[in-house]
Amino acid sequence: KIIILDFGSQYTQLIARRVRELNVYCEIHPFNHLPEFTGDVKGIILSGSPYSVRQADAPQLDLTLFHEKYPVLGVCYGAQYLAQQAGGEVQPSTIREYGRANLGFIQHEDKLFKDIPAHSQVWMSHGDTIVTTPANFEITASTDTVRVAAYRVTGTDTYGIQFHPEVTHSTDGKQLLKNFLVDICGCSQEWTPDSFIEETVSELQQQLGNDKVVLGLSGGVDSSVAAMLLHRAIGKNLHCIFVDNGLLRKDEYASVLEQYKHLGLNIRGIDAKDRFLSQLAGIKDPELKRKAIGRVFIEVFDDAAHEVQDVVWLGQGTIYPDVIESVSVKGPSATIKSHHNVGGLPDFMKLKIVEPLKTLFKDEVRRVGRSLGLEDFILGRHPFPGPGLAIRILGEVTAEKVAILQEADSIYINNLKEAGLYDQVWQAGAIFLPVQSVGVMGDERTYENVICLRAVESLDGMTADWCHLPYQVLAKISNEIINKVKGINRVVYDISSKPPATIEWE
Ligand code: XMP
Repeated sequence: KIIILDFGSQYTQLIARRVRELNVYCEIHPFNHLPEFTGDVKGIILSGSPYSVRQADAPQLDLTLFHEKYPVLGVCYGAQYLAQQAGGEVQPSTIREYGRANLGFIQHEDKLFKDIPAHSQVWMSHGDTIVTTPANFEITASTDTVRVAAYRVTGTDTYGIQFHPEVTHSTDGKQLLKNFLVDICGCSQEWTPDSFIEETVSELQQQLGNDKVVLGLSGGVDSSVAAMLLHRAIGKNLHCIFVDNGLLRKDEYASVLEQYKHLGLNIRGIDAKDRFLSQLAGIKDPELKRKAIGRVFIEVFDDAAHEVQDVVWLGQGTIYPDVIESVSVKGPSATIKSHHNVGGLPDFMKLKIVEPLKTLFKDEVRRVGRSLGLEDFILGRHPFPGPGLAIRILGEVTAEKVAILQEADSIYINNLKEAGLYDQVWQAGAIFLPVQSVGVMGDERTYENVICLRAVESLDGMTADWCHLPYQVLAKISNEIINKVKGINRVVYDISSKPPATIEWE
């Protein structure tokens, strides 16, 4: 494997994804919390950083731990750090070095630049530049303005590059990373969804033996893929629980349950609609709604889990971005919403945790799911929040409002699918607004509620842009909702991006 040491760059996860796209397994570790460098480590990548090496509090690292023992590739800050530690000089750049540039000089004999064409375009993003290099450093590429765009420490497998190969604007970045991984580190590109499945299934069999595992399925991608992996490893010893909280999309509970049964999962569906709704009665505050739903879910799940005799493990669909230890640059960020229940094992459920997806990124989870035979019906779904429609009904949740929202949402989503837009949108949903407005239907004056449509493009939900859905599609959806859904006489479209808005309204 490859170890990526993170100095806090926004691009670190992208480096990891590129390495994995080349079918090489890698892990991200913070610079100040180093892993053990054991036999299966083949090379090290040092990331960029929001810091400058000239700052007094810049991240520091004991290079002797791996330097000249493993091949090293320093990227941006990583490259500057290596140069500075070896006696080179790093200074603020005199001109802005941000954006596209071309490598006017490339030393093609250098292993790192094998098969990289002359004038290759690279992406620069730095405020410092290496002005002098130590005597044993050889400059292997330059741009018009950056003399030390890449270097090699002569006679070693230590390399530095000032540009970002992980960003797609670096046109040959993938080739460069491949050169490092394959030719320099000697990695074999064998880490594929199938090899992951094979390895994970056999590890799970070892770890779990004849033990029983319970797992809560949500209909989402992560829990579904986690269930399929565990199912392949231990079959009927995996007991899945799928709770109907009454806050799912229209017909979702029945169709998803059917799909899971069809996949051969040992699954129990629990209708707890009334229990959730009664606990939500009278609650208007979004955070209190989330808490009530979380609490009832744990109660319902715990009851069901107790019915499985001698269960030892709790399976969870945790994925890599949830567990990567982040380098804290600006201190812990404020809680905006009390999101995802990471590590949410209640004290009274004294089960051991098994998380078969905790080394995978989201796109890898999908690929593994596909290899396991899951269909787009599950893999292609938009993300859907755990508290479901409860946080898309502003204010108090009632059965009547849920029913109205389910109808409107279903018209919306079906139209997106019919128009071929569903897969282009990252997340879409309808929101029930607690305001009434005046309308006219026939000769009648109406005074009814408003439905808001939301559709966003995003990579990970951290930032999002509203989608420019075609007017004809919006017009059709609006017509259909107003004509068919009793209680709604107005439809609006949310044109706010995140930040400053959030994706959900609550
Ligand atoms: P926001 O509204 O914070 O949403 O922009 C970002 C992503 O998180 C989802 N979300 C939640 N997911 N429990 C969840 O499991 C929650 O309480 C919750 N709140 C928001 C939201 O759907 C979007 O994908």
